[in-house]
Amino acid sequence: MNNDVKKIAVLTSGGDAPGMNAAIRATTRAALHSGMEVFGVMKGFQGLIDDDLIPLKSQNVSGIIQRGGTFLQSARSSDFKSVEGRKIAYQNLKKRDISALVVIGGDGSFTGATTFAVEFPDISIIGIPATIDNDIYGTDYTIGYDTALNTVIEAVDNIRDTASSFNRIFLVEVMGREAGFIAVNSGIASGAEVIMVPERKNQIDKLRKFLDRRAQKNKSSIVIVAEGLEEGSAMEIANIISPDYPNFDIKVSVLGYIQRGGRPTAKDRVIASLMGIAAIEAINDGQKSLMVGWRNEEIVHVPLSKTFKLEKSISDDMLNAVEIIGTFLPKN
Ligand code: F6P
Repeated sequence: MNNDVKKIAVLTSGGDAPGMNAAIRATTRAALHSGMEVFGVMKGFQGLIDDDLIPLKSQNVSGIIQRGGTFLQSARSSDFKSVEGRKIAYQNLKKRDISALVVIGGDGSFTGATTFAVEFPDISIIGIPATIDNDIYGTDYTIGYDTALNTVIEAVDNIRDTASSFNRIFLVEVMGREAGFIAVNSGIASGAEVIMVPERKNQIDKLRKFLDRRAQKNKSSIVIVAEGLEEGSAMEIANIISPDYPNFDIKVSVLGYIQRGGRPTAKDRVIASLMGIAAIEAINDGQKSLMVGWRNEEIVHVPLSKTFKLEKSISDDMLNAVEIIGTFLPKN
């Protein structure tokens, strides 16, 4: 037990994710339970630089677990990328005797947090993985992913109604930055015919092959397109292939930011809560720079620096599942 830490701060950074509020709530209450004082930092690392901190008591985090977004708000701070910016952030923590910081965010946030931890080793930095993309190394799960996945599936189910009523081909673009976790899992769960992911090559060839076969049947189809494809966006891909398939009614639907918002699912709320508690336990144990992750249904500790230097990949089994049950294309 490290009794040195009497005051901690918590912030959310990068893209908001449903369940961040549950993580703030659990972090705050676990810290208060340990006898610590808690400060919430507004607008991520930018708020640290701008000295925008608010004291958090138990009642400040009540009534937020069911809300998407983050009540502390978020930002992608360019000031925090400079040594001067980080120094000001450090001074603002020090003047309040805050010696631990819980960072709820994705790999970009953990990159900044690690630099900060190296420069100012007297501050304990604990990361809680939160991004709808689920693309952080060292954890099976990131907060927000389950909610986003369910939002996508609901939207695709709706789109399929129109697709089948008109025999249309829909290219549905989903988020995920350079990772295809949302695409693959929503594609499997919504019964998509084709899923185009950045993890695999020749995705337009795959789509063409599928459309060539479809040409004989004139059936509706759902094609899930991950946003990070090197071949381009769903709209660009539609423009490339449409001239070659004049008889097909090809439509594009970009799901966009509806994927990031909404009431967090039970899974997001529960895992976020466990991670918040684990973050405070890690601080109490004297840990300095790590992420509390979720692996094989339990909390794990991962060095913060590993979380963005190593890449989390989608298993071949998942990628193959799409080929087997989606397109019915013969293996080549
Ligand atoms: O990191 C989550 C994410 O939703 C990505 O999937 C997406 O590319 C990105 O954020 C866009 O976020 P913003 O517009 O806030 O930069």
